[in-house]
Amino acid sequence: MAPRTVLLTGASEGIGRAMAWVFAREGHDLVLTARDGERLDELSAALAARHPVQTWTVVQDLAERDADARLHAAVADLGVEVDILVNNAGYGLHGEFLDRDLDAQLGIVDVNLRTLVGLSHRYGAEMRRRGRGRILNVASTVAFLPGPMMSVYFASKVFVYRFTESLRAELKGSGVSVTCLCPGMTEAKFQERAGMDGIRLARLDMASAESVAEAAYAGTMAGRGVVLPGFRNKLAPLAERFMPRAAMRAIIQGLMTKT
Ligand SMILES: NC(=O)c1ccc[n+]([C@@H]2O[C@H](COP(=O)([O-])OP(=O)(O)OC[C@H]3O[C@@H](n4cnc5c(N)ncnc54)[C@H](OP(=O)(O)O)[C@@H]3O)[C@@H](O)[C@H]2O)c1
Repeated sequence: MAPRTVLLTGASEGIGRAMAWVFAREGHDLVLTARDGERLDELSAALAARHPVQTWTVVQDLAERDADARLHAAVADLGVEVDILVNNAGYGLHGEFLDRDLDAQLGIVDVNLRTLVGLSHRYGAEMRRRGRGRILNVASTVAFLPGPMMSVYFASKVFVYRFTESLRAELKGSGVSVTCLCPGMTEAKFQERAGMDGIRLARLDMASAESVAEAAYAGTMAGRGVVLPGFRNKLAPLAERFMPRAAMRAIIQGLMTKT
């Protein structure tokens, strides 16, 4: 049987919300999680009304230290077996590292890395035991770039990219595929929440969350290692290989500056 039930983090907004619609359209049951329970309930009802799928919601702050354990327990209480784990929730903060609140920056580490690792471990082990499953981890094209003015966020995505690549290699032949999604700038709440308004980078054309979600779904179900949606984003790994590091840092710093 094809992997069916999805646990999707960061389902209340942006790319996660768009992915929920694609998974539901393709007949997958979904456990939707985020902090905003109202948004989740509204999405859950809309998905179930439109498509013949089952949906559940779990409200959980993924910055809490035991968030992965709590979420895992809550999903077990629902009696749901997770076939596809989508680690999508994440956030960044614009500004100089020393000028931004330390707790908020450590929160990026907790949500983008710590909880992603915890959920990958818990659900990865169950999937390997069953001999089937899929994990989709959402990184970013910034995984290939230095990130002055958003240092913790950029570094968090390097971690996600490398961790996913290594886990994929370890699970080769197990029946569990592991995919890394690397979107570029995408229409979502992300930029506003990060305080990126007014920076040069935000003036570039953005992809729609829907187009990113379609690419993510196709890549995950095909068991691909890396999904770079859109032509421009495919250039990011090439820039890392061929452009001098100092030039790259200067370009990014310029794009990150508010005008
Ligand atoms: N948009 C872009 O340009 C872009 C580019 C590359 C990569 N990405 C990545 O794509 C992923 C999705 O981001 P997005 O662009 O869709 O941003 P978004 O619109 O801000 O959505 C972020 C989602 O993550 C959830 N989330 C944030 N902090 C959380 C926490 N502490 N606990 C639980 N859930 C939390 C939010 O839900 P609640 O607020 O309801 O908790 C929301 O559902 C992130 O990993 C981001 O780094 C985005």
